[in-house]
Amino acid sequence: MKVVKTIKEARGIIKRAKEKGNIIGFVPTMGALHRGHLSLMRTAKNKCDYVVVSIFVNPTQFGAGGDYRRYPRNLEKDLKLARQTGADLIFVPKVPEMYPEEQLSWVEVKKMQARLCDRFRPGHFQGVATVVTKLFNIVQPDKAFLGQKDAQQARIIKKMVKDLNLDVKIEILPTVREEDGLAMSSRNAYLNSRERKAAAVLYKSLKNAGCSIKNGEKKAGKIIQKMRRLIKKEPLAGIDYIEIVDPESLTPLKIIKNEVLVSLAVRIGKARLIDNIQIRCKKGKK
Ligand code: PAJ
Repeated sequence: MKVVKTIKEARGIIKRAKEKGNIIGFVPTMGALHRGHLSLMRTAKNKCDYVVVSIFVNPTQFGAGGDYRRYPRNLEKDLKLARQTGADLIFVPKVPEMYPEEQLSWVEVKKMQARLCDRFRPGHFQGVATVVTKLFNIVQPDKAFLGQKDAQQARIIKKMVKDLNLDVKIEILPTVREEDGLAMSSRNAYLNSRERKAAAVLYKSLKNAGCSIKNGEKKAGKIIQKMRRLIKKEPLAGIDYIEIVDPESLTPLKIIKNEVLVSLAVRIGKARLIDNIQIRCKKGKK
């Protein structure tokens, strides 16, 4: 496994790997790697010949007063974990390498970036779309692997790739969870033990919503109300939003039809946690 810090080095190594006929898989991350990230890397290794992982805490996707400064960073541990997955190249640029001068060009995915998390993290998805475009241009992967955990991000990147004719296939992989259902996240590190226990309520509420949908409930408002009630019973949890949306366009739904994305963001202690389930509903009326 090679570790490089500059775009030039990364480009040179990847070019040589491509010349040998290797299919390039790419997993963009911000580090503080956990089993969720590692499952993306393992799948990438299964489906591609040569796996590139980027570790870059991207400042342009954090708002003022966001957690950019305190975002967990542990490169040595990350490299150990990445190595175990068979990753071939780790790209760890510093901020001046990715943003050497004032960035005047930005990628926007209109409408979709204005949904769900945007109200609470304005500008976040513009930062994500821009850095992912830059990373795709540097790595030029055949396939990129993203997590369903960040469903809005994954859908936005998929749409961006389509709209801008980027030559990369996007694969979205299932959310990896702790035993009590909490989605693995670098931000779980912010939780103390009481908060960590309380955080199980996110997935519990999503599972309940999933059951209601499977049982034929069609009214999104009713399901959201039930979820809200359950989460409010947990005094450490503060709801940012709970929404039921179309999984492709991310537009809110009043009536549940076909496949839906139930998505939520909840604050617990210093952490803002997001989670979702995507679920196909039962045909027929209720
Ligand atoms: P980060 O939060 O480090 O996540 C990197 C990738 O891991 C994303 O595709 C994310 O959806 C996926 N992931 C996170 N938790 C997961 C889990 N529990 N199960 C499965 N996959 C999971 O997302 C980012 O970084 C950044 O926004 C990035 C795309 C790198 C751009 O800066």
